[in-house]
Amino acid sequence: MSLHLIDHPLAHHALTELRDVRTAPPEFRRAATRISLLLAAEALRSVHTVVTTVTTPLGPADGRVVRSDIVVVPVLRAGLSMVDAVLQLVPSARVGHIGLQRDEMTAVASRYYSKLPPDIGDSHILMVDPMLATGGSSAAAIDLVKAAGARSIALVCVISAPEGVALLQRTHPDVDIYTPVVDRELNAHKFIVPGLGDFGDRLYGT
Ligand code: PRP
Ligand code: URA
Repeated sequence: MSLHLIDHPLAHHALTELRDVRTAPPEFRRAATRISLLLAAEALRSVHTVVTTVTTPLGPADGRVVRSDIVVVPVLRAGLSMVDAVLQLVPSARVGHIGLQRDEMTAVASRYYSKLPPDIGDSHILMVDPMLATGGSSAAAIDLVKAAGARSIALVCVISAPEGVALLQRTHPDVDIYTPVVDRELNAHKFIVPGLGDFGDRLYGT
């Protein structure tokens, strides 16, 4: 597994806004979109393109167009905040949804929803889940897309914890992780420290 640390000044700016306890849901959502654009662009750097020719008002020009089938898979709920950014970059992307909820006491994720597009064996899966804490949610979501045939999978996270990175390293060494930062640790409630709190709650004001 490769861990890609995305060290972009604009990503760090957006991340700082997301961490700030004073950031209210409207600004939180906008910062989530901005950071997702930057992270997703990096995660899609290796997609397959083909050479083409396009006619400008002044004549023919060489071009390259994306040929990979890209499927973005948000892990509900918080992952929904990252989907529009990916669709802005790749309007033709297909979208699958996986619903997972961590138990508040045990932090173990259980699945309540799964709907993936058909025929994803040759697709490039961009899984989006802003928080990689214990790694249980992401590992379970990756299990599901692999069971549906996916072979090329990247995970995009806004904040990661060492425990989550280590779990994915053990369970899914073929999945690349794109994140701007690996935070210090998890606390006793399996929240990332310093982190930003509960991403879904801050996104939706719950
Ligand atoms: C949060 C977050 C991740 C998960 C990470 O989801 O959005 O999916 O926790 O934790 P883990 O790495 O320890 O599994 P949560 O279960 O709180 O659901 P929500 O997105 O609906 O708020
Ligand atoms: N989920 C969150 O939203 N935040 C954390 O710190 C850990 C899991």
